[in-house]
Amino acid sequence: MPDRKTESDLTRDFDNVWHPCTQHKDYETTKPLLVERAEGIYLFDRQGNRYMDAISSWWVNLMGHNHPRLNASLKNQLEKMAHVMFAGITHQPAIDLASSLVNLSPENLSKVFFSDNGSTSVEVALKMSLQYWQQTGKENKTRFIYLRGGYHGETLGALSVCGMDIFRNKFEKVLANNLEVEGPDCFRCPYGLNRNSCNAECFEPMEKALQENDIAGVIVEPLVQGAAGMKIYPPSYLKKLQSACDSNSVHLIFDEIAVAFGRTGSLFVSEEYKPTFLCLSKGITSGYLPLAATITTDEIYSAFYDDYSRGKFFVHSHSYSANPLACSVANETLTILSENDFMEKLVPKIAKMKQLGQQISDESKWCGEFRQQGMIAALELVKNQESKESFPSESRVGYKVYLEGLKRGVFLRPLGDVIYFIPPLVITEDEITTMMNVAEECIAAVLD
Ligand SMILES: Cc1ncc(COP(=O)(O)O)c(C=O)c1O
Repeated sequence: MPDRKTESDLTRDFDNVWHPCTQHKDYETTKPLLVERAEGIYLFDRQGNRYMDAISSWWVNLMGHNHPRLNASLKNQLEKMAHVMFAGITHQPAIDLASSLVNLSPENLSKVFFSDNGSTSVEVALKMSLQYWQQTGKENKTRFIYLRGGYHGETLGALSVCGMDIFRNKFEKVLANNLEVEGPDCFRCPYGLNRNSCNAECFEPMEKALQENDIAGVIVEPLVQGAAGMKIYPPSYLKKLQSACDSNSVHLIFDEIAVAFGRTGSLFVSEEYKPTFLCLSKGITSGYLPLAATITTDEIYSAFYDDYSRGKFFVHSHSYSANPLACSVANETLTILSENDFMEKLVPKIAKMKQLGQQISDESKWCGEFRQQGMIAALELVKNQESKESFPSESRVGYKVYLEGLKRGVFLRPLGDVIYFIPPLVITEDEITTMMNVAEECIAAVLD
C-alpha cells in the first residue's frame, strides 16, 4: 500500500504533470510507478518494491542504473564544469568523445555535430542534407524518403519522416512533403518470403522512389524498426539501399538512435555500410543525461566551409549542445563498452533470449512471431496464429500484459501487442530467464 506521502505526491503528479505518450485518464485506475531509486537493472518504489527495467528506460540504459564508474565520471566532471555554451568554446570531454566516435564509426564519417536528443540529431541530419544540396547547386533536392513504420522522433521535422500514423495523423497538414515507401514487413511479408532466406524483394518500391529527381536523402532505422514493434528486417535490404543511394546520388541517413552501442550485438549496425549521416543518442550516455550526435563525412562538411561572408555555415544550435557532463559520461560508456570483452560477453545472453523467446513462441497459441536482433527481442501477440490477425486495439492486450508485469516485478512497456525486451546490456542470464518467464506468465494471465 502506498504511504500518505506517496498518495499525496501522486495526487500532485496527477494535478500538475503531463507525461509523454500517456492517456492520463488511465491514471484514474492505475497510478504511475513512483520510482525512488534505481540500481543495476532494477527500479525501486518508495515501499522498496523492485521492478526489473526490461526496456532499459526507453532503450537508453546500457550499463544499469547507478553505475559506479559512470557516477564517478559525472562527479569528476561536475567538480570542473557542469555546462558551457558550445559556439566559440570547446572542451576536453567533447573533443575526446568526437574522436572516439569518429574512430569507432564507419571509416567515411569524420565530423561530429552534437545536440541533445534523438529527434534533434535527426533534425540536424535532415537540415545538413538540405543545405548541402542547396550549396552544391542541386536546389531541387528537397524531399526525403522514409519507410512505412519508420520512427525518427516527434518534433515536426523528424515527424515529417515518420511512417507511423499514430504519431503523424493529427499533424499531417503541416508536415513537410516527404515520400513514404512501403518497407519491409517480414512477419506479414506481402511476397510470402522469409527474412532469413529472401533477397529483400520488398526493396522494389524504394528502387522506384529513388528514381524521382528531387530526393535529398533516405532515412532508415537500420535492421530494427523499433517503435513500429521491433520489426526486424534483413541486412540484404540495407545492402541494396546503400548501393541504390550511391548510384542515385542520394544521402543515406542511418538513424541508429535505438540500435547503436552494442544493442544489436555489434557496436554499430553501420559498421558494414557507408551512410552519409549517422544519428546517435539514447545509449550514448547509458541513459544518464540527454546527448546526441550526428556524424557525417568530409564531403558534406566541405560544402559548408568557406569565408564567413558567403553565409554557408550551418546555422543550427541547441543551448545544451555537447553538455560536458553528458560528454564525460558518454566517454566512460564507450570505455566500458571497449573493455573486458564486453561485446563478447553478450553472446551467451543473446543465445539465452533466443532460446527462451522461441520456447514461449512455440508453446503459446497467442504468439504470432518471436523475433530477435542481438539484445532486442520481441513477441508479437495475435488473435489468430494462422491468419496473423491482430487483436482489436480497444482490447488493449499489451497494456494488460504491462499491468500484469508490474504485479510480478517486471517493468514491460509493450508497443501495442508486441511484448518486447531491451534490457540493460549488463543483465545476467538468470535475470533474462526471470524476465522472460514473467512475460510468459503475464501473457497467459491476460489471454488464457
Ligand atoms: C530510432 C529512433 N529515432 C529517433 C528517436 C527520438 O529520440 P528522442 O526520443 O530522444 O527524441 C527515437 C526514440 O525512441 C528512436 O527510437
